[in-house]
Amino acid sequence: MLPSKRIDYISMPVTGLSGRTQVPGDKSISHRAIIFGAIAEGVTHITGFLDSADTIATANVFREMGVRIDRNVDSMTVHGVGLRGLKPSSAPLYFGNSGTSVRLLSGVLAGQRFNSELIGDESLMQRPMRRVVLPLKEMGANIDCTDMGTLPMRITGGNQLHGITYKTPVASAQLKSCLLLAGLYANSATTIIEPAVTRDHTERMLPGFGCKVSTIDHTVVLQPGALSGTRVNVPGDISSATFFMVAASICPGADIVLENIGINPTRHAVIEILQRMGADIRVENLTGNQNVEPVANIQVKYRPLSAIIIPSHLVPIAIDEIPALLIAAAYAQGTTILRDAAELRVKESDRIDAMAEGLTRLGVSVVTRPDGMEVTGGSIQGGTVNSFGDHRIAMAFAVSAIGAHAPVKVQDCINVNTSFPGFVELANSLGMNIATEQSDV
Ligand code: S3P
Repeated sequence: MLPSKRIDYISMPVTGLSGRTQVPGDKSISHRAIIFGAIAEGVTHITGFLDSADTIATANVFREMGVRIDRNVDSMTVHGVGLRGLKPSSAPLYFGNSGTSVRLLSGVLAGQRFNSELIGDESLMQRPMRRVVLPLKEMGANIDCTDMGTLPMRITGGNQLHGITYKTPVASAQLKSCLLLAGLYANSATTIIEPAVTRDHTERMLPGFGCKVSTIDHTVVLQPGALSGTRVNVPGDISSATFFMVAASICPGADIVLENIGINPTRHAVIEILQRMGADIRVENLTGNQNVEPVANIQVKYRPLSAIIIPSHLVPIAIDEIPALLIAAAYAQGTTILRDAAELRVKESDRIDAMAEGLTRLGVSVVTRPDGMEVTGGSIQGGTVNSFGDHRIAMAFAVSAIGAHAPVKVQDCINVNTSFPGFVELANSLGMNIATEQSDV
């Protein structure tokens, strides 16, 4: 067996970040463009696609099932096979680190006539899957996971699905999207009622593929039926941009512009949270198709931050941005309080414990709760922190070094490639100073 690589970051304190830049394409939209394109009839062209380990996992699973997906110089072409055109894979379908891929695909595979087995890497094999298994069974699918509620998921095909009305017990766009995808294969409408707003890319994108979906308040209704291929333009990922929004907000003298960032209202809560903390953030040049996915440039200048209580209704729509926001909290004056965020414990790592451990190592005072934590801002020491193989923890701690008293070493950063290939180069082009150390493990 070949040794696998391990990457550590050594991030140095810096001042005065500056420049204009773009970040790679949105991960959620890139996954959906491949998935919807693969089960549509005809060809889908995708520009701005995020070429990362997670989205490649989605593409490779469809390739395994007979879908032709071409990587062109600056676009992807998906040759859709229609709702019923996928072919069984001879081996288990491997989803790597990607929760979005496995949960959304379970909805698609539940509607097929063939059997499938779904697996992933060490982190994904521990994440909760019962949340999709139970409602898919209610829709008539023959699907199971382990007694622990984890992968492998096994789906026995050939069952006619029926539409259900389902109140999701957790605010999860992955769960909502899984059930909407299964709903395409059902013999009646599917209605999903959410406890709180979650990202709505599925609902915004599906009509472009010819599907009838409507949303009123927290209720989404989807009519079953075929999809047809279309064009998708993927904006820059606001979750990736967040690391630089926080970096500039805590770095004296900073003034940066992040161009072409997706600012879908179910994703842009990070801006509101940082502004409530006192950050100097301006959203300019709103462009793009505002009904599908609004896009803008985001200018961020340094301004001292103050602690806040993060409003609970913003948590599900800033869920991926919380690790970086906790670094902002470590630089803010006072104690920032995060609550109603238990979902963070079942992400690529337990993000509450991972952030608490790292912040404590850097001398920051934190208190953890089952559903959140409190962070008291103050001076940040240097030190060594573990990312626990979680891309967002790794990038958050790379940013934590900006105003620290000494360098911060972040261990185990290879999974940054799942969402943000080129992070180090881009960060350094804005004036950060991150070196990488590579070793075999
Ligand atoms: C995603 C939804 C979120 C998010 C994940 C991507 C999506 O998960 O954390 O990175 O693309 O639907 P949940 O909806 O399960 O919270």
